[in-house]
Amino acid sequence: MPECIVRPAWPSDLVDVASIYSHYVEQTVLTLEETSPDRAAWGRRYWELAERGLPFLATEVDGRIGGYAYCAPWKTRSAYRYCVEESIYLAPWAAGRGVGGELLDQILGDCGRMGIREVMAVLTSESVEVESDSFHLHSSRKFEFVGRLKRVGHKHGAVLDTVILQRALGDRLVSGSETHPPLRQRQRSKLPDIDNALPGGPGSDAAHFGLHFFTDRKVK
Ligand SMILES: CC(C)(COP(=O)(O)OP(=O)(O)OC[C@H]1O[C@@H](n2cnc3c(N)ncnc32)[C@H](O)[C@@H]1OP(=O)(O)O)[C@@H](O)C(=O)NCCC(=O)NCCS
Repeated sequence: MPECIVRPAWPSDLVDVASIYSHYVEQTVLTLEETSPDRAAWGRRYWELAERGLPFLATEVDGRIGGYAYCAPWKTRSAYRYCVEESIYLAPWAAGRGVGGELLDQILGDCGRMGIREVMAVLTSESVEVESDSFHLHSSRKFEFVGRLKRVGHKHGAVLDTVILQRALGDRLVSGSETHPPLRQRQRSKLPDIDNALPGGPGSDAAHFGLHFFTDRKVK
């Protein structure tokens, strides 16, 4: 296992994040995105998640950014507020060395501490058997197969299914007298552009997470 530090992603990591992801967009069907998001798009994605209080982690492997993982709302309607979709990508040189497991463990830990209860992962599947590294990674972390959407993707000449995996984090749902997980109002009125964003770090906005990622609900 290489030396691996998992920490909140900083705006200054987004160049590496964009480069890691664009490999998978352009060269593979592992994501069904077909055009690589540019730096501005990554900036918007990053700040949107930070505004919603959701985790976005990066991993330094032997001193370089080797991968990242983040959680986005599964759906933004308020009744889905305890459910997120997790995405994880490593640079090819960092894969297959235990780094993905470390990153996934940390993001699941963050989700658990935030009060999130269900974590979804959506994987592309080229055949009936799901045999990807991502499937093995998620299975090793107790994600369960919950469904297959057939022929929903068309990329690089292939017709692709997606497979949905789900990991339950806890059973703290209280109906009726439901206690909300910690919510924190964020005051930012305008999302900063990545090109103008100051590099963050421990203690920066991005390093603090609360749970308020749903849109149709007032946050106290
Ligand atoms: C999926 C990905 C993040 C996995 O990261 P990784 O560092 O290669 O995974 P790890 O080496 O930490 O392996 C994680 C676990 O899966 C298991 N595993 C991984 N590949 C496996 C395989 N082909 N067969 C059996 N088990 C496998 C490992 O044994 C390990 O289990 P353990 O921690 O209990 O020992 C990485 O390969 C990647 O970025 N792939 C491309 C992008 C992608 O598909 N992202 C997912 C979209 S949501």
